[in-house]
Amino acid sequence: MGSRNNFTTVILLLMLLQFLDSYFSLPLCTDSRAPFALKSPLQFCPYNATSCCSSDDDLSLQKQFESMNVSDPGCGSILKSILCARCDQFSGELYRVVSVHREIPVLCNSTVSSNSPQSEQPQTDFCSKVWSACENVSIVNSPFAATLQGRVGEPVNSSNSTKLTDLWKSQTDFCEALGGGSSDDESVCFDGAPTTLTDGTTSSPPSGMCIEKIGNGTYLNMAAHPDGSNRAFFANQQGKIWLATIPEQGSGGTLDIDETNPFVDITDEVYFDVVFGLMGIAFHPRFAENGRFFASFNCDKSSSPNCAGRCACNSDVNCDPSKLTPDNGAQPCQYQSVVAEFTANGSSSGTSSATNASPSEVRRIFTMGLPFTSHHGGQILFGPQDGYLYLMMGDGGGDGDPYNLAQNKKSLLGKIMRFDVDTMPSANDVDKLDLWGNYSIPKDNPYAVDKDLQKEIWAIGLRNPWRCSFDSARPSYFICADVGQDQYEEVDLITKDGNYGWRTYEGPYPYVPTQSPGGNTSVASINPIFPVMGYNHSEVNSGEGSASITGGYFYRSMIDPCLHGRYLFADLYGSSIWAGTESPINSGKFTSAKIPFKCASDSPLRCTIVPGIDLPSLSFIFSFGEDNKKDVYLLTNSGVYRIVHPSRCNYTCAKENASTTPSRDPFSPPSSRASSLRGSYLLLNSSFFILTSYFVFVFS
Ligand SMILES: *[C@@H]1O[C@H](CO)[C@@H](O)[C@H](O)[C@H]1NC(C)=O
Ligand SMILES: *[C@@H]1O[C@H](CO)[C@@H](O)[C@H](O)[C@H]1NC(C)=O
Ligand SMILES: *[C@@H]1O[C@H](CO)[C@@H](O)[C@H](O)[C@H]1NC(C)=O
Ligand SMILES: *[C@@H]1O[C@H](CO)[C@@H](O)[C@H](O)[C@H]1NC(C)=O
Ligand SMILES: *[C@@H]1O[C@H](CO)[C@@H](O)[C@H](O)[C@H]1NC(C)=O
Ligand SMILES: *[C@@H]1O[C@H](CO)[C@@H](O)[C@H](O)[C@H]1NC(C)=O
Ligand SMILES: *[C@@H]1O[C@H](CO)[C@@H](O)[C@H](O)[C@H]1NC(C)=O
Ligand SMILES: *[C@@H]1O[C@H](CO)[C@@H](O)[C@H](O)[C@H]1NC(C)=O
Ligand SMILES: *[C@@H]1O[C@H](CO)[C@@H](O)[C@H](O)[C@H]1NC(C)=O
Ligand SMILES: *[C@@H]1O[C@H](CO)[C@@H](O)[C@H](O)[C@H]1NC(C)=O
Ligand SMILES: *[C@@H]1O[C@H](CO)[C@@H](O)[C@H](O)[C@H]1NC(C)=O
Ligand SMILES: *[C@@H]1O[C@H](CO)[C@@H](O)[C@H](O)[C@H]1NC(C)=O
Repeated sequence: MGSRNNFTTVILLLMLLQFLDSYFSLPLCTDSRAPFALKSPLQFCPYNATSCCSSDDDLSLQKQFESMNVSDPGCGSILKSILCARCDQFSGELYRVVSVHREIPVLCNSTVSSNSPQSEQPQTDFCSKVWSACENVSIVNSPFAATLQGRVGEPVNSSNSTKLTDLWKSQTDFCEALGGGSSDDESVCFDGAPTTLTDGTTSSPPSGMCIEKIGNGTYLNMAAHPDGSNRAFFANQQGKIWLATIPEQGSGGTLDIDETNPFVDITDEVYFDVVFGLMGIAFHPRFAENGRFFASFNCDKSSSPNCAGRCACNSDVNCDPSKLTPDNGAQPCQYQSVVAEFTANGSSSGTSSATNASPSEVRRIFTMGLPFTSHHGGQILFGPQDGYLYLMMGDGGGDGDPYNLAQNKKSLLGKIMRFDVDTMPSANDVDKLDLWGNYSIPKDNPYAVDKDLQKEIWAIGLRNPWRCSFDSARPSYFICADVGQDQYEEVDLITKDGNYGWRTYEGPYPYVPTQSPGGNTSVASINPIFPVMGYNHSEVNSGEGSASITGGYFYRSMIDPCLHGRYLFADLYGSSIWAGTESPINSGKFTSAKIPFKCASDSPLRCTIVPGIDLPSLSFIFSFGEDNKKDVYLLTNSGVYRIVHPSRCNYTCAKENASTTPSRDPFSPPSSRASSLRGSYLLLNSSFFILTSYFVFVFS
């Protein structure tokens, strides 16, 4: 459990201000890692299923409690519950670790707390209970005293045994300092018992998703302009990025994009082929002031002198590049994965109004040679909370991750990485720390201080994370779709140091590798975090039985109130889209169901409709996008689509006219599986694949 920092009153007051914001988080521990399933209930603390405490942690809490010599049983039991709050699956939130690390969890300070809505009758709030049970009780090494150490102008009695009345003048002072949480926000507070979430109120399940077509182009990436305007960047796989203006919903307008005038064109640096190209773009959160933006792409060593990274197949990971040959699909390190920084400075009118940028790199952020030709993800995203740059990387290819690299913490393949691109290292540091480019390592990366492991790692055990996003309403929800091998396509909630199982598992199923020159990782040796959603390959109609997931967004627009709060994802092959519903809210537990979709009959650009069955033919769904209004887009081989009012497709959503402003209404899971599209249409037959294969992005 370790020692905790001291706090000043100033910090306590800052924390109080923080509480005024509604605060949402998925279950996370105080070390920002995910809670885990207990094999057996804890002995001391009352946690028996999912917890942040191991049995060792439990034992040390018991010792800490015993050393406090609390003579009064009433105060003792309340104090025990408070100490044990560290084991709660929401301890990260109870201790508000994002803003500041507290010594005591936030004590519920109102009669009806959000996490125990069953208490309808007025009753004493938990904070007052703590005060009245413990005010006159001596506590040795009181954790309450620790809260006040260093308090300005009022020296704390440093005696080892203190009463609450030694520390605070009154219950009001005490609860002002340590209380928080009330019935009118949804923040989690500690009420003396393990946090339980209850299902929210009802809300209609979506009967279908209505889309309109607003663009003809084929893009792989969309990024909203960081200035909050109605503009967004669109990038194609070949290497061009455009700045487009998005038409108002319902205006009948189309995407205003001038393909002849890209924002920047880096096609000369980009190696483009079926699975290679410009894979990701990210704009610095302060792009409007600093003009910094980033592109993640592939390069070819044989045609670009700037394509010269270290090979990811190397002796550190038991991979011998000379044993990889083109006949087993490998071309060791001919193709590389690159992240480069560019600038939109230079426009006389300032960066926010910049409509062009220079294609010459400001700096190389990252370069890594790839062992095989597939599974190299490449999306980049800035974390909304930490401002760090995340890079999604696949296992580097080969059937079944032959070198077992996704489980190897000495390899960057099969990982999500996290870089600090605001603090540039000296050339010296790059060498000394053995970095793969120009960035520094955030101090709390899980292996930041382990010299044998890759410091860039944030999470491991991924096969080909294809499209991740942060929930714009709850930034601790970092959700990624990970493309499967033979059986299962998965959606994962990504947490610090999480192991998502590949290749020991494919989704929830143990995976038996066919080759293992790099060794195996046993099921018993890891504690994987299983997918929160996904689908079997047998659930999609892609003609050949193949499948490849495309991750989307938590839909946060109110244009379709029935989709609000649900996570949308799709299969690449265009015939299936799912809505994931979390229940209870903030539990990290999801159910998902395919949703029917139609194109609005008044779509600005006509949708191609599959004859006879009145359904839009999207072709490949490469990516989703989200604009500054939180409207969600589908980037497909047949153009750009936007989700619109369900009534425009004659779908009914009872709430459509009731509300147009975002709310945080919880919703119930769909009462029945939405009608399946299985077997309904199949435009994507094999001849169609051959015709379009030049554009087809195959991940699986
Ligand atoms: C776990 O604890 C909860 C509440 O304390 C209790 O309702 C439940 O029955 C327990 N489950 C097991 C498996 O012990
Ligand atoms: C706790 O109480 C016991 C017995 O009352 C006493 O022997 C012991 O010294 C006390 N411990 C502390 C740290 O005060
Ligand atoms: C604590 O002590 C004060 C002063 O002696 C007394 O007024 C109060 O009732 C006591 N509280 C409890 C809960 O015993
Ligand atoms: C500090 O606390 C102890 C025990 O509660 C008490 O005996 C002592 O008088 C206090 N000292 C001051 C300076 O308040
Ligand atoms: C507190 O207790 C520790 C040992 O438990 C002792 O070393 C220290 O001197 C005590 N401090 C005070 C102020 O009594
Ligand atoms: C807790 O309750 C007290 C007493 O009702 C109140 O003065 C204080 O502002 C509350 N604190 C918070 C953080 O709600
Ligand atoms: C999109 O393509 C259609 C059909 O080729 C064409 O009529 C239309 O003008 C195009 N629209 C835009 C905005 O490019
Ligand atoms: C771009 O301009 C901003 C503001 O003038 C400045 O802070 C930043 O350093 C510039 N960036 C580059 C790469 O020149
Ligand atoms: C750092 O950036 C500079 C400028 O782009 C580049 O020359 C250098 O190779 C980069 N260093 C690494 C380790 O990539
Ligand atoms: C890895 O596991 C596979 C399947 O269980 C087995 O065939 C293979 O021999 C193992 N390889 C090593 C190096 O242990
Ligand atoms: C997926 O496939 C597995 C193994 O074939 C099967 O056990 C499971 O029930 C399937 N799940 C669904 C949702 O169809
Ligand atoms: C919705 O219903 C109207 C009236 O029946 C019809 O004209 C229109 O085509 C329908 N729209 C869709 C997308 O089915």
